[in-house]
Amino acid sequence: MSGTVVIGAQWGDEGKGKITDYLAENAQVVVRYQGGTNAGHTVEADGKQYKLHLIPSGILYKDTLNIIGDGVAIDPAALFEEMDYLRGLGADASNLVISDRAHVVMPYHKAIDSLSERRRGSSDIGTTGKGIGPCYTDKFERSGIRVCDLLNRDVFVKKATENIELKNELIEKIYGGEPLDGDSIIEEYLSYAERIRPIAADTTYVLYKEMKKGSSILFEGAQGTLLDIDYGTYPFVTSSHPISGGVCVGAGVGPTAIDKVVGVCKAYTTRVGKGPFPTELLDGTGNLIREKGNEYGTPTGRPRRCGWLDLVIVKFASRLSGITDVAVTKLVTLAGIEKIKVCVGYELNGKVIEYFPASLEELAKCKPVFEEYDGWDGSIMNATEYADLPENAKRYLRRIEEITEARVSIVSVGPEREHTIIVR
Ligand code: GDP
Ligand code: IMO
Ligand code: MG
Repeated sequence: MSGTVVIGAQWGDEGKGKITDYLAENAQVVVRYQGGTNAGHTVEADGKQYKLHLIPSGILYKDTLNIIGDGVAIDPAALFEEMDYLRGLGADASNLVISDRAHVVMPYHKAIDSLSERRRGSSDIGTTGKGIGPCYTDKFERSGIRVCDLLNRDVFVKKATENIELKNELIEKIYGGEPLDGDSIIEEYLSYAERIRPIAADTTYVLYKEMKKGSSILFEGAQGTLLDIDYGTYPFVTSSHPISGGVCVGAGVGPTAIDKVVGVCKAYTTRVGKGPFPTELLDGTGNLIREKGNEYGTPTGRPRRCGWLDLVIVKFASRLSGITDVAVTKLVTLAGIEKIKVCVGYELNGKVIEYFPASLEELAKCKPVFEEYDGWDGSIMNATEYADLPENAKRYLRRIEEITEARVSIVSVGPEREHTIIVR
């Protein structure tokens, strides 16, 4: 048995889907443990592009079991849409089990997500609007509806009726929005229940049996370390735990189920939505990276903010998740840029600090300390092994290793499976 976690070491969109799909070739099980349709994981294989939101990135291998764990916020309509979409692309989405303990995203969660953003005005978070924050809010407030509740008609009708009544008051009286039609929501969700029933299970038990059999398990994170509810740039974060610590609670396994933690790190930094971003480039270089890297969000199509690689945050991610291996993606995007900068520390009140401040006010005062590296050319795309990489790119990778104290064991030089170099 082996357990490998794949997490985002930055603000999301590092290429977790690509790396998970690549590693899934040698795994029997792939598990999502947090987040929901706020995630957008793009996988390219056999000349096709697959955009995944809820379904784990192991789904393209027909013998791999895919699990949506209890820590995920499941939007049933989006789940079925994604299953149909995959079938439309010729992928068999049937090897999928979802946790009966996972919380269900309801229409009022989505309504409240956008209304609360509107009310925040210029202090909005820039959420994906998928109802993820309000769904987790209900989970912790203990009024959430779980998959097992949806499967019990009486329980569901009672809980949904109570919730819709309360949420409509909130929507109308606090947010000044339009109330939702409770009957049609209940009818719609009861129809989902029948489609969910055959794929719902106690996924902790499914995983336990797989571990007993000696299966290799991949835990696929969504979002990234700096979006973690506790360790990210709060309040500009998501509402779950993308870090490796999230695996135990979100999949229902002990820490001993984890042997390896792969931190996925883009060769530069991007961020969607609002919040601090010390190495952000608001100039032509930022635009160049956005266009060359096609940095537009998968769930919302929003342009991603782009900046230089910030190793202060990747080092923080490495420490928080116990990253053993780094997978560096999108080195190709930087090809052709003559001088590439890397942030190796923050200067605060005249002193260089290496930690990542909790306070956003303190973070705002930090100035990135940059090192400058000579760039590489487009021939990097043709590299099939480490030795083929340009010397300047190797120097860049070595610096990532030194600062993160983890080995770079995967280098991705393109979106397809074959554009992947295993270093060790
Ligand atoms: P995720 O959310 O972490 O899975 O990342 P996204 O899928 O949102 O964004 C990463 C994007 O970069 C996707 O479109 C991938 O297909 C693409 N990608 C991943 N690795 C590479 C790479 O090494 N080079 C290039 N050019 N694209 C990559
Ligand atoms: P993947 O898995 C990048 C960001 C949103 C917003 C904040 C809160 O593709 O890496 P939410 O809807 O979660 O309440 O929004 O988090 N965000 C992501 N940014 N990649 C993601 O997922 C993200 N999921 C959420 O833009 O700033
Ligand atoms: Mg993404």
